[in-house]
Amino acid sequence: MNSPEKIKQLIELREQAKMGGGAKRIEAQHAKGKLTARERLTILLDEGSFEEFDMFVTHRTEDFGLGDKKFLSDGVVTGHGTIDGRLVYVFSQDFTVFGGSLSETFAQKICKVMDMAMKAGAPVIGINDSGGARIQEGVRSLAGYAEIFERNILASGVIPQISAIFGPCAGGAVYSPALTDYIIMSESSSYMFVTGPKVTKSVTGEDISTEDLGGAAIHSSKSGVSHFVAEDEEEGLLLLRKLLSYLPQNNLEEPPLVESTDPINRADESLNNILPDNPNQPYDIKDIIMRIVDDADFLEVHANYAKNIVVGFARFDGAPVGIVANQPNFLAGVLDIEASRKGARFVRFCDAFNIPIVTLVDVPGFLPGSGQEYGGIIIHGAKLMFAYGEATVPKVTVTIRKSYGGAHCVMSSKQLRGDVNYAWPSAEIAVMGPQGAIEVLEGKKIAAIEDEDERKTFIKEKEDEYRDKFANPYEAARYGYLDDVIEPRNTRFRVIRALTSLITKKDRNPLKKHSNIPL
Ligand code: HXC
Repeated sequence: MNSPEKIKQLIELREQAKMGGGAKRIEAQHAKGKLTARERLTILLDEGSFEEFDMFVTHRTEDFGLGDKKFLSDGVVTGHGTIDGRLVYVFSQDFTVFGGSLSETFAQKICKVMDMAMKAGAPVIGINDSGGARIQEGVRSLAGYAEIFERNILASGVIPQISAIFGPCAGGAVYSPALTDYIIMSESSSYMFVTGPKVTKSVTGEDISTEDLGGAAIHSSKSGVSHFVAEDEEEGLLLLRKLLSYLPQNNLEEPPLVESTDPINRADESLNNILPDNPNQPYDIKDIIMRIVDDADFLEVHANYAKNIVVGFARFDGAPVGIVANQPNFLAGVLDIEASRKGARFVRFCDAFNIPIVTLVDVPGFLPGSGQEYGGIIIHGAKLMFAYGEATVPKVTVTIRKSYGGAHCVMSSKQLRGDVNYAWPSAEIAVMGPQGAIEVLEGKKIAAIEDEDERKTFIKEKEDEYRDKFANPYEAARYGYLDDVIEPRNTRFRVIRALTSLITKKDRNPLKKHSNIPL
């Protein structure tokens, strides 16, 4: 019989579990400006929706005096809940218990929710705040991580996996997030490294601060490990909710439609005059994105990394799309190693989860030079080409201005199975820009002209001739490489029409075990 004592015991045990590593450690967590594992879930999930599992789990280690140091939940809070009414599985690591480090049982709890998420076809969200493998458990904690890694890998492309990093995360606590689709860090409390400054100092002698080794600023701008950076944890958790609103529950579903009040035929007159007179002058591609998408609402991914390409989520007539756009405002929008990797990863994500891709092109080419060549621009640039060429989701391309050389082929060209390819009248599609082309084609003649004025006139004439021939969209349109040349003011309407026509699009790749994308 469930006597009042038994019920009381249950309530007490629950209360004990909720205290994690105890009041003092919770206080220390708050003093660092961090929330507890459970507080984070309260912000993340719809009110009252959290269903917790495995509260009574404790570790099984007796070594290093751990036998009498057991905490209910063992440092990770797991279960499921909803975000905007949609099911998600969650785990939230508790730094107040052994620094959130991962034991064998801790890993089993995470594996359980990952397995359930896969069966249910629902996203997994992991909130990481952990010193990595629990050192006292040795190889069992490593095995626990490997169990999680394998699940991350198998779930990749099946269910969305999103990682928040809220604390000093090391070892497995960063490798598991690295295997997921998106990483969110908070400026105030997030660090990621293979190992922290203490171990770094003892192994390599390098004296470096936590911030400089793996703070949010480093990972969102320098390494590109983090896709989003929020001011604090709360903002990060709300951002995560927004991100999910663009994603389907799994790879067999379509992304969720929302009702849109932004008219589909909303013309924007300012677009006809938005480009600078001089084709070499920069402008902000986001000004164009904002004018064409629903309600000027654009969730940029990797905003501080490889700024020469802009990627992110928006909606057209309520339907989510992934936007990929060259950014003339930064390095003239050139494709370099970082931009290619960033773009490729995003295109592949969209393709895996049935999110159509809208590409805005203004690209002068690949960045030349030894720095890029030694870094392997050939391989990295090929990643973006591969991603576009392999993608079977609807692909709509609008060439705004420049589209030169290999970069033209890469950026969702017709021949890479671009479905609908439009261009503005300002488009310039050619093997290279006029200056470079004339240098190659007329270099010897130019060198032979002694008089400087004469030389300049000759160059200008040749460049003008070249520009007349190629610096327009009509040459490409003549061959059907472009489906139409459109008035900029109508871009939103034309893109929506294109996307609507592609709703039932089916495309497939040859049967194979998997492709061999140039990594
Ligand atoms: C056991 C750990 C721990 C760990 C932290 N703690 N990390 N206990 N195993 N991995 C404990 C500390 O002993 C301490 O306990 C409490 O958590 C808080 O840690 P502090 O060091 O006081 O906190 P802080 O100064 O904020 O530093 C946090 C940290 C640092 C940067 C995470 O603890 C650290 O560098 N930890 C080790 C990181 C690491 O190298 N992990 C193993 C990675 S290998 P007390 O009781 O003293 O308060 C790995 C392999 C996976 O994960 C496979 C990868 C492919």
